[in-house]
Amino acid sequence: MKVLVVGGGGREHALAWKIAQSPRVEEVICAPGNAGIARHARCEPVGAEDVDGQVALAKKENVGLVVVGPEVPLVQGLAERLKEAGISVFGPSAAAARLEGSKAFSKDFMERHGIATAKHTVHEDVKSALAEVERRGGRCVIKADGLAAGKGVMVCRKLDEARSAVQRILGQGSLGAAGSRLIIEDLLEGEEASVLAICDGHRFVMLEPAQDHKAAFEGDVGPNTGGMGAYVPAPVVDGRLAKKVREEVISRAVAGMEKDGHPFCGVLYAGLMIEDGAVKVLEFNVRFGDPECQPLLMMLGEDIVPILEQAARGELEQRPLAWRDGAAMCVVLVSEGYPGAYEKGKLIRGLDAAPGGADVMVFHAGTKQTEEGVVTAGGRVL
Ligand code: AMP
Ligand code: GLY
Repeated sequence: MKVLVVGGGGREHALAWKIAQSPRVEEVICAPGNAGIARHARCEPVGAEDVDGQVALAKKENVGLVVVGPEVPLVQGLAERLKEAGISVFGPSAAAARLEGSKAFSKDFMERHGIATAKHTVHEDVKSALAEVERRGGRCVIKADGLAAGKGVMVCRKLDEARSAVQRILGQGSLGAAGSRLIIEDLLEGEEASVLAICDGHRFVMLEPAQDHKAAFEGDVGPNTGGMGAYVPAPVVDGRLAKKVREEVISRAVAGMEKDGHPFCGVLYAGLMIEDGAVKVLEFNVRFGDPECQPLLMMLGEDIVPILEQAARGELEQRPLAWRDGAAMCVVLVSEGYPGAYEKGKLIRGLDAAPGGADVMVFHAGTKQTEEGVVTAGGRVL
């Protein structure tokens, strides 16, 4: 069969690479893809957020499965549009994708289903939000309700920081509609980990725990990014903790979504804070993490395609997956200036000098093929 991968970043390169290895797959198509993905897949110039275009492409190519990388098209309803067209899709419906698309929805869901998370309040006006940050003495985390491409979370320790975050987002609308509602929650301390599960709406299989590093600079300092690197497995999630996450987070979330009438099919990503053996959920995402996906797929010791197909059909076989021994680590090379403003179009040299193969892979994130060669085309590049 043909498989369509939606997206064009490092995560989608890893997915296209892994999917292309499956004996079940005759061709991988990726839209829009990038210069690295083009080595494993046929790239088609349809934007990841062009829902109509993606549905038309999937139909025209008669693909057997669509795997959606990023969250935006999921929140926009790409999965149900594909299902309506009779196309098998791995990824949640818009209603289920609200777990990532609305933090207020997600927090309310966690509270109703007994999933531990930071205590929060929701605000739509500056006055009540300012009163709440005053009450907390400024120590809190302020989050835009909607999708803000990694820019929607402010960890505040001082009153003036918290006040100015409220003014910027709610007062001046710096994040647009995504920031028309704010969540203010307890600032949690501890070590973070990401635990992902592949779900079919009813059942799930857990992936190895991952840890990503979001601060831009060496030494875990600097502004928050989408992720500068990740490794798998994350020893902070030991066997006991993994069991706790399975029972108290993933299992409750999958059962809760089913009970609420929005069964979750796709990757459920729990961003966790761990302190003294206790686990709280910082956020849910509804897709593979980027860059967590890259070391996860380097470590997966079996064909991913049957797992994705079973999940898409709602017939996931519940069993432990096979993992390679050892560990995998991903380091992200970014454009100077990222996560702020940066230049594009710089020639990348030395790509073919990397060894490749089973142990080293160069996944492309923001790259483009030009006549001169491969050039940078994004903040996260390789
Ligand atoms: P999120 O998009 O919710 O994962 O937030 C991005 C990052 O902000 C997380 O990876 C954490 O480092 C931090 N963060 C989010 N919520 C909290 C919290 N309640 N306490 C402390 N740090 C947080
Ligand atoms: N690396 C974090 C994320 O994908 O949300």
